[in-house]
Amino acid sequence: MGAQPRVRVYWYSQTGQLLESVCAVTDPLEKAGWDVRKVEIRPREPFAFPWPLRRFFGVFPACVDPDGAPGITVRPPVAEDDDADLVVFAFPVWYLAPALPMRALIDAEPQAFEGRAVIGLVACRNMWYSAALEVQRLLGAAGGRYVGTIAAVDTASAAVTFVTQLRWLLAGRREASWGFSRAGVGNDELDRLALLGERLAQLAPAQSEPAPQQGDLASAQGVLASAQGDLAPQQGDLASAQGVLASAQGDLASQQGELARAQSDLASVPPHLASQQGDLAPAQGELARAQSDLASVPPHLAPQQGDLAPVQGELASQQGDLASVPPHLAPQQGDLAPAQDELASQQGEFVSRAVGEEALEEVLAEGVRAVLAAHDAAPVHYALAAADLLAGKVFRVWGRVIRAAGRRGEAQRAALTGVFVLWLTGAVLAGLPAVAVARVLVRAGFDAAVARRLAPVVAALTEVRS
Ligand SMILES: Cc1cc2nc3c(=O)[nH]c(=O)nc-3n(C[C@H](O)[C@H](O)[C@H](O)COP(=O)(O)O)c2cc1C
Repeated sequence: MGAQPRVRVYWYSQTGQLLESVCAVTDPLEKAGWDVRKVEIRPREPFAFPWPLRRFFGVFPACVDPDGAPGITVRPPVAEDDDADLVVFAFPVWYLAPALPMRALIDAEPQAFEGRAVIGLVACRNMWYSAALEVQRLLGAAGGRYVGTIAAVDTASAAVTFVTQLRWLLAGRREASWGFSRAGVGNDELDRLALLGERLAQLAPAQSEPAPQQGDLASAQGVLASAQGDLAPQQGDLASAQGVLASAQGDLASQQGELARAQSDLASVPPHLASQQGDLAPAQGELARAQSDLASVPPHLAPQQGDLAPVQGELASQQGDLASVPPHLAPQQGDLAPAQDELASQQGEFVSRAVGEEALEEVLAEGVRAVLAAHDAAPVHYALAAADLLAGKVFRVWGRVIRAAGRRGEAQRAALTGVFVLWLTGAVLAGLPAVAVARVLVRAGFDAAVARRLAPVVAALTEVRS
C-alpha cells in the first residue's frame, strides 16, 4: 500500500444512476487523498434506453445464462501492472443477476480481480441479493476476495417500485407522476452512501507528517554514530601504541644485525693469526672467551635492552585496555545497546513493510469489512431477500427452457418468453405477499435461513427499517 490507498472502480451504468451511487461513496475518499480511478465498461453493442418492450424481456435468457456475456470495451484498459489496494465492482441488477456488461468484465479481465480485495457496489430497484451472491461467486472464481456489499435501492414499497421502474425503463420517465414516486435510488440513499464513504475515508486519513518510524530510525542512527565518535580517541591511542611497538622492534632488529656481523667476524680465522699457527692454542682460548662474551648481551646493548622493557610493558597494558571496554565508554556502551536493538527492530519493520504489501492490503480489507458491517452498507429486507433467492433459482430454469426453445426472434422462443412474463407478473403480485406471510408464521427460522444464505456477501445483517 502506498501513502494513500489506491482504489480501482469498475462500473457500468445506462442512465448514470449507478455512477451517482459510486461517486457518493468515492467522493469522500478522494477528498481524503485516496487515489481513486474509475474504469467504465461499455457493451460493444449498446443496449437502447428506454428499452423497447420486446428487447427488455428478450434479454432475460442471456441475463441468466452463464455463457451469455456480450463483447465489451474497458476504458481505460486494465493495466498489466495494476497496483490497486482495493477494487470496487459496481453493478446494476438485470433479472436478479449482475448486468450483462459487468459479468462480461469478469470473463474478459479476471486478472483485474485476482488476489485483490473487492467490494460489490450495487444500485438497483431493490432485489440485489441473488446478483450479489453471483458476483461473489464469479469474483471468487477469478481469484478475488469478496469483502462485502454496498447496496443502494429504491426505498419505496415493492408494489410502487414495480410500477415506477417499468415506467422509467420502458418509457424513460423517471420523475414522480400520477401519485407514484420518482423511480430509482433517491437522495436518502445517496446521503447514506456518502456517510459510508466518509467513514471509509477515516481508515486512511490524509497524511502530512513523515512516517514516524523513519524519524525513530534516524534518531537511533544518530545515537549509534555519536557512540562510534566516542570510540575514535581510543583507536588513536591504539595506533600510537602500535607505532611505539614497531619502532622498538626496529631497534631490536638492528641490534641483532650487529650481533650477527660480530659472530661472522669471529667465525673466520683472523689474517694476523694465520702466520702464527703455533700460537693457535692461546688464540683459540681467546676466541672461546670472545664467543662466551657474545653469548651474553653485549655491554653496549644492555641500555637498549633496558629501554625496550618499559615499552613492552606499556604495550601489554594498552592491549589490556583495548581488550576491556574503557571505563569512560561504559555508559556509551550501555546507551548503544538499546539503540542498536531499536535500529534492528526498525529495520525489521521496514523490511516487513517492503515485503508485506499484501499483508497491508489485507489490513485495509479488514478495515473496510468492519466499516461496512458497522454502518448499514447493505440493509436487508428479509421478505424481499427470500423471494429474490427463491426466484433467482427459478429464473435460471426459465432461462434454460427459453434458450432451448430456439434462437432470438424465433416464434417458439417468443411465445415462451410471453409465458415467462405472465408468470413473472403473477410472482410479483402473489409470490411476494405469500413469502411475507410465511415470514410472519416462522419468523426466527425464516430470518436465520436468509442470514445464512447472505453471509458471504453481507458483512453484517441489518434489517431494512420500513
Ligand atoms: C433488463 C433489466 C432488468 C432489471 N432487473 C432488475 C432486478 O431484477 N432487480 C432490481 O432490483 N433491479 C432491476 N433492474 C433495474 C436496474 O438494476 C437498474 O436500477 C436500472 O437499470 C438503472 O441502472 P443504470 O442506469 O445505473 O444502469 C433491471 C433493469 C433492467 C434494464
